[in-house]
Amino acid sequence: MKRIHRIAVIPGDGIGTEVIAEGIKCLKTLSEIFEDLQFQFEYFTWGSEYYLQHGKMMSGDGLKILKNFDAIYLGAVGDPRIPDDVTLHGLLLPIKMGFDLYVGLRPVYLFRGVESALANISEDEIDMVVIRENTEGEYSNIGGIIGIEEGELALQSGLFTRKGIERIVTFAFEYARDKGRKKVTSITKSNAQRYGMVLWDRIVKEVASRFPDIKTESKLIDAACMDVVRNPKGYDVIVASNLFADILSDLTASVTGGMGLAPGASFNPKDKTYPGFFDPVHGSAPDIAGKGLANPLAAILTAKLMLDYLGESEAADLLSHAIKQNLSERKVRTVDLGGRSRTDEVGDDVVRILRSLSLTVPFQI
Ligand code: NAD
Ligand code: IPM
Ligand code: MN
Repeated sequence: MKRIHRIAVIPGDGIGTEVIAEGIKCLKTLSEIFEDLQFQFEYFTWGSEYYLQHGKMMSGDGLKILKNFDAIYLGAVGDPRIPDDVTLHGLLLPIKMGFDLYVGLRPVYLFRGVESALANISEDEIDMVVIRENTEGEYSNIGGIIGIEEGELALQSGLFTRKGIERIVTFAFEYARDKGRKKVTSITKSNAQRYGMVLWDRIVKEVASRFPDIKTESKLIDAACMDVVRNPKGYDVIVASNLFADILSDLTASVTGGMGLAPGASFNPKDKTYPGFFDPVHGSAPDIAGKGLANPLAAILTAKLMLDYLGESEAADLLSHAIKQNLSERKVRTVDLGGRSRTDEVGDDVVRILRSLSLTVPFQI
């Protein structure tokens, strides 16, 4: 029996279109290798060009349309011609928030064949997962700007609910336990942010008491930024609010090969009524867009996370091994990793490796 997964593909802006093409190439190859595995891809041209034509980032009933898919695969959003808050609040954030995809999962791993920006760190020595609260916190969108000229006033509120904190922190501990990880580090700024983050710290203590087998640690964001760079080996699972985990996920990417290797997944682990949402951590990178310079591996690693979510563990494992082999061979790689290959050449190389791995029976992965 064929397992058919319906995927909404939103390539988006800038390098988003370039890297998603490579991810789709890999997924199509996997469906040739695993005969029971099938994808139905439906493409949506939503994004900044669409905005310039229609005055909105996606069609008015966009969420209703997306609701019918199993997963959404998005490249990136953002265009220098349009204010970023307009583009992101018009497409990416309404999907995560509207579908209540409260878990943001961003694995951080120093692959063999990739050099860290840090001295004295070698392959495989950084292995952590940033778990981001995706639906509230600093991104709650509560506030406004009033007044004019000297009288202008902006109010921006953070929203921290017991339910929202409890569910993301519980997920972090359950994830640690399921994956055999040893420690959860919660990161806040409760010395200055007296309400939301004090509540967060208190709930972390409550939840941690239910997981005596997992070590718990609480850090302040400023000290944590310093320490993640000084001692990345000391981190395992990190859980943090929407904004802090956003910042941390670029920081942790920078010590494991950069934005070209940082994948992301957003989903609701308790309820699959709405599709999971999969996009690399990076943005549309206007500085390199259209030049074939973008590293597609973040998007391909993101496709791997999508396969995990869809329950396709064999295909996910094969893809993961193909990516690892591409990196450890150090031959076909983009400029950000010190290579000379173009975006599509890296995608083609992963496809080549997928095919060669699939010829070994059982798969040598
Ligand atoms: P960015 O992640 O797009 O780029 C930061 C730096 O990393 C740039 O120098 C870029 O060239 C490099 N880079 C990023 N991805 C790369 C890849 N795959 N391969 C090689 N190099 C890569 O961040 P930014 O410049 O702050 O943002 C650009 C636009 O993207 C903005 O409009 C921003 O709002 C938007 N953005 C969107 C998302 C998203 O859609 N998920 C995420 C972050 C930023
Ligand atoms: C990310 C991005 C987005 C976020 C922005 C572009 C709104 O930085 O996915 O990491 O912070 O959610
Ligand atoms: Mn970000």
